[in-house]
Amino acid sequence: MKLQEKTGRDLLRQQFFDTRAHDWDARNHSPELRRQVAAMLDELRIEEGMTLLDVGCGQGILLPFLRKLVGERGRLIALDTSAAMLSGVAERDAGTLAIHAPAECIPLLDCYVDRVICYSAFPHFTDKAAAAGEFFRVLKIGGSAHVLHTGSRDFINQLHDRYQEVAGDYLPSRQGMETLFRNAGFSSLCLDEGENHYAFSAFRK
Ligand SMILES: C[S@@+](CC[C@H](N)C(=O)[O-])C[C@H]1O[C@@H](n2cnc3c(N)ncnc32)[C@H](O)[C@@H]1O
Repeated sequence: MKLQEKTGRDLLRQQFFDTRAHDWDARNHSPELRRQVAAMLDELRIEEGMTLLDVGCGQGILLPFLRKLVGERGRLIALDTSAAMLSGVAERDAGTLAIHAPAECIPLLDCYVDRVICYSAFPHFTDKAAAAGEFFRVLKIGGSAHVLHTGSRDFINQLHDRYQEVAGDYLPSRQGMETLFRNAGFSSLCLDEGENHYAFSAFRK
C-alpha cells in the first residue's frame, strides 16, 4: 500500500462530500431505502463476532444494520476520506472505530477483517485497482468484499454526471470489475444487478 498524492480533482470531490455531510443521511436515505440496504446486507452471510470494514462509510448508514448482524462481540471499522462525514459515525454506533484514510491505502494489518463492504462509494475511488488490492490484503482467507448500490449501474453513473465535482466517477462495467478484482488476487467473483440494485461480490480463497 502506497499513499498517493491528492490531485485537484480528489480535493474537489472531498470538498463536495465535506460540505454535504451535515444532512447527508436525511437527504439520501428514506425508510424504504434503509430497508433495501438491510436486505442487501442480510445476503452477505455475516455472522456474530465478525470484524467488518465499511469503506467510504459516509455518516455511517450501514452501521446500525451491521451491528445487529455482528452483535456486541463483533468489531466494526468505518473508513472515509471525509472527516466531516466520519463525524457522524459515533452517533450511529459508539463502538465503531472510525478511520480517516483512503480506500487506496487502508491502515490495517493484512488478513484482519471478515468482510469489506463498500456501499455507494466505489465509483468515487480515484485508483480502483489500488482499492481492490487493499480489500484483498486486509481480508482474511475465506473473507469477501462487496460493492453495493441501491440503483442500477447506469443510474449511478448518470447520477454522478449531474454534479461537476463527481462527474465521471463511474462504476466500471462487469468486465472492468472482474479484471480489477481478479488482478487484485480474488478468485471467485459474482455480480447480481437489476433496475434497483447492484451487488458485486469477490471472495478471497
Ligand atoms: C456517495 S458517498 C456514500 C457514503 C455512504 N456509504 C452512504 O451511502 O451514505 C461516498 C463516500 O465515499 C467517500 N470517499 C470518496 N473517495 C474515497 C476514497 N478514496 N477513500 C475512502 N472514502 C472515499 C466520500 O467521502 C463519501 O463519504
